[in-house]
Amino acid sequence: MTEPLSTVNSLINTSLLPVTWHNDAIRLLDQRYLPDTVNYHTLNTLEQVVDAIQTMQVRGAPAIGITAAYGVVLAARQRFQESNHNWKTEIQSDLTALAESRPTAVNLNWALNQMRNEICNVEGDPESILLDAAIQIHQSDQAANLAMADFGAELLAGSSAVLTHCNAGALATGGYGTALGVIRRSIDNGLQDIYATETRPWSQGARLTVWELQQDGIPSTLISDLAAGYLMQLGKIDWIVVGADRITANGDTANKIGTYALACLAKQHQVKFMVVAPTSTIDWDINNGQDIPIEQRTVAELLPDCYQNRESLVSAWNPVFDVTPADLIDAVVTEKGVVINPNHENMQQLRYNG
Ligand code: MRU
Repeated sequence: MTEPLSTVNSLINTSLLPVTWHNDAIRLLDQRYLPDTVNYHTLNTLEQVVDAIQTMQVRGAPAIGITAAYGVVLAARQRFQESNHNWKTEIQSDLTALAESRPTAVNLNWALNQMRNEICNVEGDPESILLDAAIQIHQSDQAANLAMADFGAELLAGSSAVLTHCNAGALATGGYGTALGVIRRSIDNGLQDIYATETRPWSQGARLTVWELQQDGIPSTLISDLAAGYLMQLGKIDWIVVGADRITANGDTANKIGTYALACLAKQHQVKFMVVAPTSTIDWDINNGQDIPIEQRTVAELLPDCYQNRESLVSAWNPVFDVTPADLIDAVVTEKGVVINPNHENMQQLRYNG
């Protein structure tokens, strides 16, 4: 049996894990109500897992993938109990439902492919073997975060101020975080000022990032999304550090809506731009960012209640990710190494030599 998650590394604050396997079920921190309410749900069925991903009880590309992997364990248990000879056929629709629960984060497909391979090989009752595989996915994400923190902190050495967008922290991953892992690790290296955008409309920055940092005793400064340009113009930022939902073979990067605007502003103000993501976020099958599916969420996330009726003349457009072209990115930091000035050729070097 794989080691319990809490023993992976003492650097990980286990009170900030968004998802764990506990008492034969998934224990999920409901991120919709943070920071006001810290509420955990127990998920026992595939339907509950799909709903939790779609409604963003769990969010952040790696955390979605890990939750889906544990969801496969629940689905396999159910299918095996219902028809033990046919469960490998029956579970296919569950894998499809999970894959379609959110479209942009490629870690979801990556984790499901790992679980698909396990399903092909397993004989007899699948639960313990699939659980081992899911825990392995979870632990390797934590290990990747710790490795990326080291690589990213080297790049940040000597910098005193960073800006991050959305939440790419422990809450968005298996623990510790990607962009926020680099920032955590840089504090002992002299990093002084951490700015976080609000990240409208879901407020991942205002509700999650600054809360998460506070849980670890790390001070931060929240800004409105629109204050980022002025902050850079004042010369107060050295690096922008963000996560990613999908990176294509040429280094183009999909991340939370507004990331592209930040990258353009960074270029204008000679601020460096770093993307931190595990290699499970790289989609080698897509050559450039134009082919990344961009999730559109309900207008209800944007529109005030008074406009949500048939007579209303006001509608809304709510894409929740955008694509930053590789030429606006100074470094892509992964657990296998750093790609400086990402382009197709440099990314291939990471793929085959990283
Ligand atoms: O819509 P969300 O909250 O799932 O979007 C999350 C992001 O855009 C994160 O920056 C990204 O998933 C990287 S998380 C390590």
